[in-house]
Amino acid sequence: MNKLLVANWKMNNVVLDCVRFMEEFVPKFTAKREAWVAPQALHFNLVRHMGEQKDIKAGVQNVSHELFGAFTGETSPKSLRAMGGHFAIIGHSERRQFFGETSKTCSLKIRTCIREGIVPVYCVGETLAERESKQTMSIVGDQLLQGLNDVGSINPENLVIAYEPVWAIGTGKTASPAQAQEVHAFIRTVLKEKFPGIGAKIRILYGGSVKPDNVEELLSQKDIDGGLVGGASLKAKDFLALCGDK
Ligand code: PGA
Repeated sequence: MNKLLVANWKMNNVVLDCVRFMEEFVPKFTAKREAWVAPQALHFNLVRHMGEQKDIKAGVQNVSHELFGAFTGETSPKSLRAMGGHFAIIGHSERRQFFGETSKTCSLKIRTCIREGIVPVYCVGETLAERESKQTMSIVGDQLLQGLNDVGSINPENLVIAYEPVWAIGTGKTASPAQAQEVHAFIRTVLKEKFPGIGAKIRILYGGSVKPDNVEELLSQKDIDGGLVGGASLKAKDFLALCGDK
């Protein structure tokens, strides 16, 4: 399985920052690993255009579960696909925390995306309190089963899971490779049960303070197929290092 690094720029980077990043990143990127970038939706098409010569896929950080209609402020997966969009991050913990998203609402988005040919990068993960009270597996298991409820037929290419322990996002605290692998192995088991014959090949990314100095150890774990990266994806030099291009 080719390793995949997904840049989540969150609400950072004005247009000039996006251009500068791509001007530095694209010529040095050698596709040892796959690189996908999710800028603010406003900048999606610019990033898509600048990355296409190296097959750097562009996507968004959130998407509607509806395809068109009276939904002010939303982005349609159909419109995203028509513009050459490849993927949508769904259920990031910041969206769960600040915008009321639940695994149930995520499941509607995941279903619509898969139908429309957009790859959902579905985020799951426990808070610190949940980890300390030993609920990690039950929380992650519920998020998975609810979010992936009724997704219909899938292939390993049209679904990506991201395990992001909430306590490790933007905090500088990374789950140790062993802690991450333990949860990834659990996620793998759930996926294999839910999608026999396919679950073994679905990519499971780790997210939460992934940096150039911890990426190799994380990616060397058996069930870690890549990373979903916030802070360290904002500088081209760091994201190149994560992609194996030092
Ligand atoms: P971080 O963010 O790499 O800055 O911890 C990861 C994420 O939120 O996807």
